[in-house]
Amino acid sequence: MTVTDVVIIGAGAAGLMCALSAAARGRQVLLLDHANKAGKKILMSGGGRCNFTNLYTEPANFLSNNPHFCKSALARYSQWDFIALVGKHGVPYHEKKLGQLFCDNKSSDILGLLLAECDAAGVSLRLDTTVSQVDKTDSGYRLHSSAGPVSCASLVIATGGLSIPTLGASGFGYQIARQFGHQVLPTRAGLVPFTLTDPALKALCGELSGTSVEDCLVSCNGQSFRENILFTHRGLSGPAILQISSFWQPGDEIEINLLPHLDLPAWFLQQQAERPNSELRTLLAELFTKKMAGLLADQWFDSKPMKQYSPGELRSIAERLACWRLVPAGTEGYRTAEVTLGGVDTGEVSSKTLESLKSPGLYFIGEVLDVTGHLGGFNFQWAWASGYAAAQYV
Ligand code: FDA
Repeated sequence: MTVTDVVIIGAGAAGLMCALSAAARGRQVLLLDHANKAGKKILMSGGGRCNFTNLYTEPANFLSNNPHFCKSALARYSQWDFIALVGKHGVPYHEKKLGQLFCDNKSSDILGLLLAECDAAGVSLRLDTTVSQVDKTDSGYRLHSSAGPVSCASLVIATGGLSIPTLGASGFGYQIARQFGHQVLPTRAGLVPFTLTDPALKALCGELSGTSVEDCLVSCNGQSFRENILFTHRGLSGPAILQISSFWQPGDEIEINLLPHLDLPAWFLQQQAERPNSELRTLLAELFTKKMAGLLADQWFDSKPMKQYSPGELRSIAERLACWRLVPAGTEGYRTAEVTLGGVDTGEVSSKTLESLKSPGLYFIGEVLDVTGHLGGFNFQWAWASGYAAAQYV
């Protein structure tokens, strides 16, 4: 029987941060993962450059049934704390846009610094290890693992959400939460591309697959994000679409303003006055790629010389481009989603210690909880902050 102070299940972002911080406090920490490598999502993140935090992280960047829950942990381990850690290890980074900090080189720089800190603090890391059973004892918890029985005073669940099963995701954390009397709020894929089934829409997106529109305003259920969108073979993606997907429920309509930076009715009237003989498709090609302009001109509008449009027709063209409304058929699901919405109900977990209010000595950190960040480095910041907060009490 292995006896240790703390067992952390899940060597992802939150588990690694919790392990290194608890071990730095002098706690004996065993970090287990069923995968053959720690931090697989860190390695995959940010297109291989890990968007490890956001300069403008605030509680408002997170979705949860209880929007106040994340405040305490985020305040006690902020983006500045993680930036200082990155600086300590001399990892070069840059702000890409909107406060999003990315590695200059590769994501393995972030995983490397976490593993180096774990190593220096004396964390025992055991990979390829599955846990089949967890029982409460008088002094803590006993685990049956593929590496033998383990007993500990504090057990931390850091197994993340359901997104991307091929990277090690499992529903294990939810199962343990239920076992110890916790509510698990319904889960669904977030930060995920939309699929379309309407034949005309699907054909349009398919033909434009790979094309992005730089500055769009995408809205749904009272939320809006201004970023680029990307056409795919199966539907729509790109940052603005991923962001709005977290606010979308099946059947909801989304609205896309393809040109939020332009006062379109005024622009069309001006073009009509200055270039009466120019075709609509020629003008659209100044706003979009030539291919997209041609497709919109053919499929959405009856393209003709500008002088032939009535003011009403020009208004409705402007309206269509500024308020493209569509109902996605669905999302690409957990296969490609960056995050899982919902999860362990925060109402039954201490926001200060991340300890279960149902079972003393049991902790939940990271994505397994019902706390989901916007796109842009916020999800890692939640993993760092919640991992650090729990580490002060385990
Ligand atoms: P995480 O998923 O990181 O770790 C969970 C760990 O638990 C895994 O190592 C897994 O193997 C292990 N595990 C699961 N079940 C287990 C079991 N039964 N037994 C043992 N171990 C088990 N965020 C961001 O802020 N910036 C970014 O750039 C990106 N980019 C990005 C790209 C892609 C492709 C994805 C899928 C996700 C992102 N994210 C992101 C989101 C971010 O990766 C995610 O929110 C955090 O990794 C969550 O950290 P956790 O530690 O909670 O879970």
